[in-house]
Amino acid sequence: MMDRTDRHCRYLLRLLGPEMLLYTEMVVGQAVLHGDQQRHLGYDPVEHPLALQLGGSDPQILAEAAVAGAERGYDEINLNIGCPSDRVQSGEFGACLMDQPARVADCVSAIRERVAVPVTIKSRIGIDDKDDYAFLGDFVASLSEAGVDTFIVHARKAILAGLSPAENRTIPPLRYERVYQLKQDFPHLHISINGGIRTTADALSHLQHVDGVMIGRQAYADPFWLSELHAAIFGTESLQSRDGIVRQMADYAAKAMSEGARLNHVTRHMLGLYAGQRGARAWRRFLSQEVHKPDAGPELLVDSLRFVT
Ligand SMILES: Cc1cc2nc3c(=O)[nH]c(=O)nc-3n(C[C@H](O)[C@H](O)[C@H](O)COP(=O)(O)O)c2cc1C
Repeated sequence: MMDRTDRHCRYLLRLLGPEMLLYTEMVVGQAVLHGDQQRHLGYDPVEHPLALQLGGSDPQILAEAAVAGAERGYDEINLNIGCPSDRVQSGEFGACLMDQPARVADCVSAIRERVAVPVTIKSRIGIDDKDDYAFLGDFVASLSEAGVDTFIVHARKAILAGLSPAENRTIPPLRYERVYQLKQDFPHLHISINGGIRTTADALSHLQHVDGVMIGRQAYADPFWLSELHAAIFGTESLQSRDGIVRQMADYAAKAMSEGARLNHVTRHMLGLYAGQRGARAWRRFLSQEVHKPDAGPELLVDSLRFVT
């Protein structure tokens, strides 16, 4: 998620779910080629398994960007065919490309010629009035022929004109059964479902029908929940406590700061860690206020624990 799942956020998420697959924010292909590569592609080895999500529609640019990602050791290249923002549409990428499967297939082929890691697709179930199941099925069939065997489907359509990106994550209704149908019709493909999954029970129930669940907003709002979800799915009991996570993040923050990050870059992703717990509000307030003081260092995180223990 843009402005959310940067490397600092992913480090936190990895502590909570050792085996889950993590995704970067969407990085535009051009930015990888012409921007600060360390900023766009840098990560900590503990983040594996880690997918690089790219945005774009130029096969050569995407292929070059994917090569840069693969050279840095990303485990998967994911193409974003689901983002509905105006900025993205003017650049001809994101959700509007669901209507141009041949072009997406060209992008996939160009990438697959250059990198060995899997190339996967994140899409919606449709766009605007192209929202019947046949449209989705044709899209998946075309891309499957181009060699894609993993699809992550946000189970609502995108409305390209008139809705903001945020509205496009709430207003079009969720149609999970469309994604279940995909799995039935393409049993050899790996199909993951995304959109509105907020509880362990939700996730387990989806897993009766599809191969994977992708969690966005709830993972950010209540990251500690991921340790429960992880235990339920992977069967490994979590040994983590919230306080333990805070202490490990203090060590991580020290390292990140020695490499140029500011403390706030790390702590801003942690504010949901005590969601629903006693003292959470005071803890959040302390952290949000103190972190901006000039002498704020990683020990602030350990100090913050007095509000919640
Ligand atoms: C702030 C924000 C940024 C997002 N950025 C991306 C992105 O970069 N790439 C992407 O595929 N989806 C992005 N999304 C969409 C989410 O990945 C997800 O598809 C959507 O929020 C629905 O899932 P959820 O209900 O679990 O959040 C973003 C969502 C939010 C809230």
